[in-house]
Amino acid sequence: MTRIDPHSYFDDAQPRTSSWHLRLRVDFQRRVLDGEVTLLFPKGSGGTLDLDTRGLTIHRAYVTANATSLAFELGPEDPILGRRLRLELPKGAMGITIAYETSPDASGLQWLEPAQTEGKLHPFLFSQCQAIHARSLLPCQDCAVARVPYDAQVLVPKPLSAVMSAGPWGEVEAALPGWRLFKFRMPQPIPPYLLALAVGELEGRDLSARARVWAEPCTAEKAAWEFAEVEATIQKAEGLFGPYDWNRYDMLVLPPSFPYGGMENPRMTFLTPTLLAGDRSLVDVVAHELAHSWTGNLVTNATAEHFWLNEGFTVWAERRLLRALHGQEAELLGWAIGQRDLEESLRRFEQQPELTVLRTHLEGIDPDDAFSSIPYEKGARFVWVLEQAMGAQAFEVFLKAYMAHFRFTSISTEQFCAFVEQQHPGLLARIDADAWLHQPGLPAGSPRFHSDKLEALTALAQAWPQGARPENSEAWSPKELLIYLQHLPRELGSEDCAWLDGHFQLTQRGNYEILVEWLVIAAGSDYEPVFPRLREVLLRVGRMKYLRPLYAALGRHERTRTLARDIFEAAAPSYHALSRRVVEGVLEKYADLGVAQ
Ligand code: BES
Ligand code: ZN
Repeated sequence: MTRIDPHSYFDDAQPRTSSWHLRLRVDFQRRVLDGEVTLLFPKGSGGTLDLDTRGLTIHRAYVTANATSLAFELGPEDPILGRRLRLELPKGAMGITIAYETSPDASGLQWLEPAQTEGKLHPFLFSQCQAIHARSLLPCQDCAVARVPYDAQVLVPKPLSAVMSAGPWGEVEAALPGWRLFKFRMPQPIPPYLLALAVGELEGRDLSARARVWAEPCTAEKAAWEFAEVEATIQKAEGLFGPYDWNRYDMLVLPPSFPYGGMENPRMTFLTPTLLAGDRSLVDVVAHELAHSWTGNLVTNATAEHFWLNEGFTVWAERRLLRALHGQEAELLGWAIGQRDLEESLRRFEQQPELTVLRTHLEGIDPDDAFSSIPYEKGARFVWVLEQAMGAQAFEVFLKAYMAHFRFTSISTEQFCAFVEQQHPGLLARIDADAWLHQPGLPAGSPRFHSDKLEALTALAQAWPQGARPENSEAWSPKELLIYLQHLPRELGSEDCAWLDGHFQLTQRGNYEILVEWLVIAAGSDYEPVFPRLREVLLRVGRMKYLRPLYAALGRHERTRTLARDIFEAAAPSYHALSRRVVEGVLEKYADLGVAQ
């Protein structure tokens, strides 16, 4: 037996699935997907097959070719892994079919009431499979090493549409009146966590010959404007990494409960609607998800223990794209904003330093609980150090060789290091890669990013208590304002809050990065005038990046703690399960805070 992933029952010594064929019906009444999946195997496979499942009801398993029933055994529930589904694959069987349905509270799905959408008329469904939730959508070898191409037929009630992380393969007349049948095909092998499905009232707008944005009809126009420049970003990324290999680059704007900023589902990036700031200032997230088409989707982390390979490289790439599109200053501001996120995560894991290494060991730890800015920002800094050590030009050559060598595979940190060593012998030792990869915190050689603008903004913010106030701030870009707000004291008097809000019109902002940074200060300052807006934001938005600091800031005072509990009670039913868990974690810490200062 060779299990290679602490989060999967996938066994390297067993037959490996060569493709998935899904036939599913989306049942909004029962909140389940039900149907069948056929798993194909290379010729001559046979023997024991262990699959991952979570919350699935298995109706029947049979040999696809002759419909002979197969015995199956569902193991006990493991709180992190779910239940192992064990089958015996008859010698020579080319494929098995499993009839099953998902659970109404499948961890990888969120079913929304019409009231939770922008249009308010139709229900909505979306998936989020990374890191280990694909198994709640279908029985599979849910390990990134077990890559598969797939096709799918999805029945959805009229007038809704379905999109997937795959190319459309035609809509055919459904045999059932009142239903539409969508067909999809993803010919390239993807890790299971990149399976994605969304169903709702959707409208698409073309942005270029290969890029389209999908959204609910009432947001489609706004989305098309916000992301209009995506084709230019794709072309810059191709310059950096080589040709875009996935054919189309489409995007879907989700309802506001989507728990992430973006998710790099291939051919269909999922995005939070909080990016629709109306000024294109938050499109870094699109650059990031697009960059994953290479770093993540083409070359993939073997397991969640090597997550930095996905995110560190992608953040580095996102910043390089920022430089190519908007200049060096824009890139520097990106690194500076990231520095703050990194320091915050290092503080959060002060008691768990083992989660601040890049190459993690996650046996017994749920990847959702280990999530932080560390693989992103520490990882990106390590890539930056590699680039410095090789020199910019040699690094570009290295990157292209790396992509070419590992394309469509899923690799470990150790494989990555072996490749670097082979290309640049001795380099890893010179930069003390061991400290970056295996030791907690930030190594001594970690880069610090400087720019005059940055120094001026931070100094101005830090001198707030001495009475320093901004001048000429009308000319600040949204990023500059964000950096300024980030460096203000976390708690201010109400007069100071009123001055800031009056000067910058913060409470009414539509740019969520700025709005949330302001609300964090205002909440931490127990500043009552923002409470209604705070409630509105927390009831509407489920993005974890915003919920965590907002609820944490509300923990500083007795009155705001009560407010937070009150809001959470009302908001919890509409949050995604992941968001709910993050907020519960924050609220539990309130208990340790004692009485208000
Ligand atoms: N792949 C991640 C999101 C993710 C990570 C989902 C781990 C589940 C488990 C995505 O590419 C991402 O990093 N999103 C960021 C955007 C950002 C860093 C620009 C986010 O959601 O904030
Ligand atoms: Zn990412």
